[in-house]
Amino acid sequence: MTDQIRCAVLGLGRLGFFHAKHLVSEVRGAELAAVCDPMKGKAEACAKELGIAKWTENPNDLLEDEAIDAVIIVTPTSTHAEMITKAAENGKHIFVEKPLTLSLEESKEVMKKIEETGVICQVGFMRRFDPAYADAKRRIDAGEIGNPIYYKGFTRDQGAPPAEFIKHSGGLFIDCSIHDYDIARYLMNAEVTSVSGHGRILKHPFMEECGDVDQALTYLEFDSGAAGDVEASRNSPYGHDIRAEIIGTTGSILVGTLRKSHVTVLTQSGSSYEIIPDFQARFKDAYRLELEHFAECVKKGETPIVTDVDAAINLEIGIAATESFKTGRAVKLTPGASSYAGL
Ligand SMILES: NC(=O)c1ccc[n+]([C@@H]2O[C@H](COP(=O)([O-])OP(=O)(O)OC[C@H]3O[C@@H](n4cnc5c(N)ncnc54)[C@H](O)[C@@H]3O)[C@@H](O)[C@H]2O)c1
Repeated sequence: MTDQIRCAVLGLGRLGFFHAKHLVSEVRGAELAAVCDPMKGKAEACAKELGIAKWTENPNDLLEDEAIDAVIIVTPTSTHAEMITKAAENGKHIFVEKPLTLSLEESKEVMKKIEETGVICQVGFMRRFDPAYADAKRRIDAGEIGNPIYYKGFTRDQGAPPAEFIKHSGGLFIDCSIHDYDIARYLMNAEVTSVSGHGRILKHPFMEECGDVDQALTYLEFDSGAAGDVEASRNSPYGHDIRAEIIGTTGSILVGTLRKSHVTVLTQSGSSYEIIPDFQARFKDAYRLELEHFAECVKKGETPIVTDVDAAINLEIGIAATESFKTGRAVKLTPGASSYAGL
């Protein structure tokens, strides 16, 4: 393997194009060798814009290409299981966006395939790489707030993605709150044992036909005795708002800010600053750092700090929250036992 991990990006939509652009110019240890998207003209246009020679509309061309070391899977979630399986069978290392798959059965199958083939798999829970969340993690682990006893997190999107995306996303708990489930487990150093999900459509009637909601709340209990709550919203009129608070026995840590930059404008009518508009702006550094970590792990043959196993646990929590929302009853989980009812 060369010094640079040769990556192919599969899926060039909202996030895939962003990852591809990052790989060309910002990610140390990796390079963009090829791009793929089945939508007519998309891969060709992306390759042209980014100065990449290799592009295709058929993912199999790259999954079977010996000149590719690793694939960055940014296709709709409903296609992840198939993409991961084919990539592992072809010996490609895998960076796949969250959620890992849409069902736990699929997750189990891809985890087995990853283990059998020995490829490295990292999943796109980028908050672990965000400098603010990473600093919170260091401080919690150093004991600065005592024992963490409550996690409060929210993820508010300025609007809803298109219906076509929502239909293949798994729903608000699985698509969106899953980021908070992951970072809560990571920061609290604990696993979830009980999940209650609540939700409603407040602003986007088309959610009804997608079987989804645009506002959700999850109450979590952890095996450490801690608890937490997670809000997800597609209804934030002011910007992309991602914040968290971790309360410990001797202090509390607040993560996140609304500020897009360090500029504050003062006039006779008051003071103002620009608010972060979207996830690409909020997590630019994290998206770069997670891919650098992936490249480093591939080079050294090491296990990433967020794997397919973490992703399956996060999915299990998301499925439990969805189930609880539908039945009105809390769902109990037994960490490490894939206990979700029905499996
Ligand atoms: N980590 C994050 O913060 C974050 C943010 C947004 C999206 N995501 C995840 O990224 C994935 C993609 O989301 P998106 O918003 O970019 O979706 P999108 O709908 O904007 O883009 C998906 C792209 O994949 C292409 N595609 C479909 N099938 C394909 C296939 N078989 N091979 C190659 N390309 C294929 C589509 O043509 C489309 O261009 C989802 O799993 C989503 O959950 C993660």
